[in-house]
Amino acid sequence: MPLVTSTQMFKDALEGHYAIGAFNANNMEIIQGIVAAAEHERCPVILQVSEKSRIYTNPVYVLKMVEAAVETSNIDICLHLDDGPDYDTCVACIDSGFTSVMIDGSRLPYADNVKLTKQVVTYAHDHGVVVEGGLGDIHGDTDSDIPSALTNPEQAADFVHDTGVDSLAVAIGTCYGPYKFKTEPTLAFDRLKDLTSYLDNLPLVLHGASSVPKEFVDLNNQYGAAIERAQGVPEDLLRDAARMGICKINIETDLNLVMTACIRQFFVEHPEAYDPHEYLGPGRRAIRSMVIHKMRQVLGCSKRL
Ligand code: 13P
Repeated sequence: MPLVTSTQMFKDALEGHYAIGAFNANNMEIIQGIVAAAEHERCPVILQVSEKSRIYTNPVYVLKMVEAAVETSNIDICLHLDDGPDYDTCVACIDSGFTSVMIDGSRLPYADNVKLTKQVVTYAHDHGVVVEGGLGDIHGDTDSDIPSALTNPEQAADFVHDTGVDSLAVAIGTCYGPYKFKTEPTLAFDRLKDLTSYLDNLPLVLHGASSVPKEFVDLNNQYGAAIERAQGVPEDLLRDAARMGICKINIETDLNLVMTACIRQFFVEHPEAYDPHEYLGPGRRAIRSMVIHKMRQVLGCSKRL
């Protein structure tokens, strides 16, 4: 089964009021854990790669690992550029076989974001590739209590009309990394409701959507880490967001936390060990379990194939 775009995945997700998981594919064991979970749950999945990770791993290795995942599984897999920083990176990914790219102009002035996004959409659509745009403070650079950081629904409608994007990452109060909230976690559901009514069935995307499970923060800390006051998006809020029109949920921090916790634990418990298969294997298994849990309890996308 070849790589697919996210078009059908999002259509089904919108109709079914669930979300597709977009998991950052940072190394081979993480990819294998994610894909094993998706196979087990019979659900489509998005493997996404940031430019930093693509360069670190090497673009050819990234593609070949994802091709191996496609060849050895029988689920729908979409390969997506996460947080595409510029036109040339998007073009390089499209030319090499990615089926979806994000062009992240969200930090640019509005007019520049429109211009850049439109340019990427034109190239991508000519090559059968879909595009995610971004509008508002989707990274959580500013305090989420500041209303202007959230995506403006009217501006979003203009943005979608003027650029032709296939999906849009919106800001409703999340941020990247393990430190998402200083006080009680909350998402701007009123704003999400307005966005869905202005954007009329356009697939919406949530970045910064890790839940930062206490279990894995504690496991890291128990084995030597110092991750203090970490707080993610509670699972029930993500489930509600998925029911309300968010159909792609981005998750990276949780995968990194679980893999690192397992490695830390292994080395403390086996100080004599040095074989990478021994210390990366537990992380791969734990990633599989975590992704199965998210597919069932958070995204609601299990048993969709
Ligand atoms: P987290 O840091 O919450 O996992 O979000 C990552 C992300 O949105 C990548 O696009």
